[in-house]
Amino acid sequence: MKKIVVLTGAGMSAESGISTFRDSGGLWDKYRVEDVATPEAFYKNPALVLEFYNIRRRELVKVKPNEGHIGIAEMEKDFDVHIITQNIDNLHEQAGSANVLHLHGELMKVRSTADESLIYELTADKPDINIGDKCERGHQLRPHIVWFGEAVPMISEAAKIAEQADIFVIIGTSMNVYPAAGLLDYVKKHIPVYLIDPQDVRTSRYDVHHIKKGASEGVKELRKRLGDLVKGR
Ligand code: APR
Repeated sequence: MKKIVVLTGAGMSAESGISTFRDSGGLWDKYRVEDVATPEAFYKNPALVLEFYNIRRRELVKVKPNEGHIGIAEMEKDFDVHIITQNIDNLHEQAGSANVLHLHGELMKVRSTADESLIYELTADKPDINIGDKCERGHQLRPHIVWFGEAVPMISEAAKIAEQADIFVIIGTSMNVYPAAGLLDYVKKHIPVYLIDPQDVRTSRYDVHHIKKGASEGVKELRKRLGDLVKGR
């Protein structure tokens, strides 16, 4: 089976009703990164940061995977599919994808501020954490999120996966944030690269096949093109 590696970003979940970051009206229009998504912000105003992620979680538990997520999961019938996502939602997993690597952490998980190996899963009926919610060793819990300015622990594993791709697909990311955007440079030069995004996206490869559509329609088109490729049409 051919190995398809899919790099996804906020646009993948837009049709489920989750805001992107950099489109107009996106999350970074409403909040300043420095106020809610850095270690310094958490140090300065932990309640504000916890509330920012509580709001994100309350939104997530109300939404469902869209046809794009489901289409990608269905591709496992014909391909060895590996997803590398910048998204902190769990919509790929909900859609049934088996191999999902989260580069920027996971919204439904929280961890101890004193011991990063103490990770806990939140549930849809209790999606908040607040000041005073502690790990089993008595330390404040924080979101299990990679904030700006923090190391990205999963990047080397993601780079290995990207290197092994037979087909590479990018869906719904503006490719503005590194090291995630740099994963494309690990893809071997002769490997076909598809991009699904309604907007133009600047990448380091000039030979990208751009499917200029939203995620749901774009994944349908991708499956058609790959089906034709496999059948040699
Ligand atoms: N289908 C597919 N793509 C879409 C759709 C859609 N329906 N709607 C918007 N997009 C595209 C936009 O055109 C844009 O290229 O999704 C992309 C979203 O880009 P960003 O908002 O920059 O999100 P992303 O690239 O995931 O951001 C990367 O930045 O703030 C951080 O940590 C956060 O993981 C995030 C990282």
